[in-house]
Amino acid sequence: MIYLVTGCAGFIGFHLSNNLLKNTKNKVYGIDSLNNYYSTKIKKERLKILKKKKNFFFKKIDLIDKKKIRIFFSKINLDYVFHLAGQPGVLYSFKNPKSYKSNNILATKNLLNEVNKNKIRKFIFASSSSVYGDQKIYPIKETFKVRPINYYASTKIVCEKLIRRSFANYKSKFIIFRFFTVYGPYGRPDMFIHKLLNKAKKKKVIKLHNFGKNLRDYTYIDDVVKILKNCIKLEDLKLNIFNICKSQPIETNKLIKKIQKSLKRNIKFKLIPKVKGEMYITHGSNQRIIKSFKLRFTSIDKGIEKTIKAYNLKGF
Ligand SMILES: NC(=O)c1ccc[n+]([C@@H]2O[C@H](COP(=O)([O-])OP(=O)(O)OC[C@H]3O[C@@H](n4cnc5c(N)ncnc54)[C@H](O)[C@@H]3O)[C@@H](O)[C@H]2O)c1
Repeated sequence: MIYLVTGCAGFIGFHLSNNLLKNTKNKVYGIDSLNNYYSTKIKKERLKILKKKKNFFFKKIDLIDKKKIRIFFSKINLDYVFHLAGQPGVLYSFKNPKSYKSNNILATKNLLNEVNKNKIRKFIFASSSSVYGDQKIYPIKETFKVRPINYYASTKIVCEKLIRRSFANYKSKFIIFRFFTVYGPYGRPDMFIHKLLNKAKKKKVIKLHNFGKNLRDYTYIDDVVKILKNCIKLEDLKLNIFNICKSQPIETNKLIKKIQKSLKRNIKFKLIPKVKGEMYITHGSNQRIIKSFKLRFTSIDKGIEKTIKAYNLKGF
């Protein structure tokens, strides 16, 4: 099978590509702009690992560049497209909304334009739990109304609409996954767990928003990769939108204790008030995904243990 993974140097794109490459019959084309939203050192480190595999082909392309995407698609007949490239992060969307418009909306538009001209088997998109905003009832089901409270979420909703419109006549050809706080080895340094590990290493103070009372539905990367990899095998999927979440949110204050225990290091933190645009709780329902994919999610303790083990070994 021939795959395209956009955002292959990113956290999730890297893990998915690495897993797909294990089957030497697969060819994986990876696209990434290697932007500097966070340190490019870790992106290059991830790429170095992928490039060791003979069946991996990297193209440094910015999805904003229509011409480059057109040329890329004209040369390769792809079976599956995993569109994981994008501008993540909730709070940064208040600082730099332009980046979200370009790297989420325009990038997806440009990619869909080429995808539609070519015969592919499936298009898989990385959306976010942020689209739900704060709800009154938990756990959040895929059928709940979206209530974006930041621009990041709004751009993901636009992307979802673009995809639905694009595949209106071929509904079995796309899947939208709404990820809930994914963590694991080589994790993003702008996300809580890796931010905390980096601060602890430097003996610096980490700020705990909303006095550490926010709840997040942490979901381990291997579970996400398993679902992404298997979704192409399920040809007869009747549904197009799935939450990917462990469905067991944990309060930041409790998470800190677990990490402290596993890290065997004291963590300095400062409690600060709620930050505008941040959700209080993310808690998804995983009934739909479990029914279709029949998997058991990794426990937070196991996930933290693996993440810290990798961090201690490699520094990521
Ligand atoms: N990690 C999570 O918890 C999480 C949660 C919800 C949704 N998501 C979504 O999943 C996707 C992957 O997330 P991640 O955590 O791996 O993020 P990431 O930032 O590590 O990876 C995204 C990659 O996309 C690349 N990129 C950005 N704009 C591009 C463009 N215009 N052209 C080409 N490449 C571009 C970046 O250089 C980066 O390497 C993102 O779309 C994100 O919004 C992630």
